[in-house]
Amino acid sequence: MTRFGESSITAMTSLQINSVAVSGQDTFAADTTALQCTIILFVLVAVSYPIYALYLHPLRTYPGPKLSAITRMPYWIACLKGDQVRWMNKLHNQYGSVVRFGPDDLSYTDGRAWRDICLVPKGKKENGKEVGFHAPSANGVPNIVCQNDIAHHARLRRALSPAFSDKALKAQEPLLQKYANLVVARGREAVEADISELLNFATFDIMADFAFGESLHMLEKGQYSDWVAKVFNSIRVLPFVQMIEFYPLAKKIFALIEPRAISRMRHEHFNHTVMRVNKRLNEGSEKQDLWDFVVGSEALTLKEMHVNAELFMAAGTETTASLLTGVTHYLIANPDKMKILTDEIRMRFQSSQDITLEDLAPLPYLNACIREGLRVYPPVPSALPRVVAEGGNSILGKWVPAGTRTLVGTELQLTDRSSSNTLAPTKIPKAMPLPNETGTTVLSAIF
Ligand code: HEM
Repeated sequence: MTRFGESSITAMTSLQINSVAVSGQDTFAADTTALQCTIILFVLVAVSYPIYALYLHPLRTYPGPKLSAITRMPYWIACLKGDQVRWMNKLHNQYGSVVRFGPDDLSYTDGRAWRDICLVPKGKKENGKEVGFHAPSANGVPNIVCQNDIAHHARLRRALSPAFSDKALKAQEPLLQKYANLVVARGREAVEADISELLNFATFDIMADFAFGESLHMLEKGQYSDWVAKVFNSIRVLPFVQMIEFYPLAKKIFALIEPRAISRMRHEHFNHTVMRVNKRLNEGSEKQDLWDFVVGSEALTLKEMHVNAELFMAAGTETTASLLTGVTHYLIANPDKMKILTDEIRMRFQSSQDITLEDLAPLPYLNACIREGLRVYPPVPSALPRVVAEGGNSILGKWVPAGTRTLVGTELQLTDRSSSNTLAPTKIPKAMPLPNETGTTVLSAIF
């Protein structure tokens, strides 16, 4: 190689190095500027958002803690601690029947808010359910509770409601009698019966018979199946899932870092439902169950059948068992009320074989106890949020902007116990209270 060649290579190399150095400096400068801009933007938002949230936001006139007007964190912390009903109760006691508990969030305990939030006024858009509140299904297809599209929701209801008609329930009577007798037998065998456990065994067994075509045999074995134990575990982590679902960025990050074991467990759990439903659909069942009504209608896709079976196994089981546990608790705590109820039942039926759905339905004190149980011990005590529809809607005569997350006439437990909605809700009347002529027990307080 010539000197010229060498020097020209040297010159070129140094030129390249210089240009790399220059472009490196440029990149560094650009990075620094971007970082500075981000920091400035962050500081601006951090300073201006609280000012906006407190003094300019459309919900600024609603009462509530200042911190909650700026951030949802206090609410999430209460949810993660499983304490949101008590937390919300404190807020309502302090601020009244409407509380701003997050920047875009309102909670109502005035029962009249229910109509404005949940019912669709003519010519208005429905305040949709907050989809993120319900954990997303494993196959991505919404079940009936999460389905926010009105036409699709109506289709699901049309397809599923025949399975809950009086005639269909009557067909389940032998099944219900079998499990009711088993609960009583198990209770009598035990030295100390855990009534909540027995009722959960029963409701999960019944629902599995109804939705999978075969029982889980928990009442017979006297223990939770692994699958049901996981349902309870998943209920415990629900607030965490709700929080992640609420923040799109957190959702993306969690999808990247979610431990494999957890996602595998979630899918295995759902696959168990898929397998059971497919087995029932392929092999049929001698007993009448959910699918005799639904398959005939052909209104559901296979994936919808899977997610709705999964929903029934959660929505219709632990809820019913919790209510009955609560009612039993209050009856045991109030022996005079227990006596009224047992007298009513024993006067009507000679033996347990005589007990039918048809004859149980008109018993006034039994109905009053169940309604009262729903009031003082609601199995879904916290709120099922709605999001105010496009264009905004009026709630209790006040306009609420679109996108506001409302806890509809809830927290349920608080609404039900609020002294503005019930007469003497905490007093136990001496005389036997009966449902009023509208059939509600709103004006009575049994427990
Ligand atoms: C005491 C027992 C029960 C309680 C407290 C209860 C509570 C609720 C609540 C609060 C909702 C409204 C959900 C929402 O709007 O987001 C709901 C909906 C629903 N529940 Fe229950 N439930 C009970 C028993 C059952 C049973 C036994 C079944 C099934 C066999 C069931 C199936 C459903 C279904 C399918 C829906 C969705 C209805 C729709 O969106 O049209 N529930 N339940």
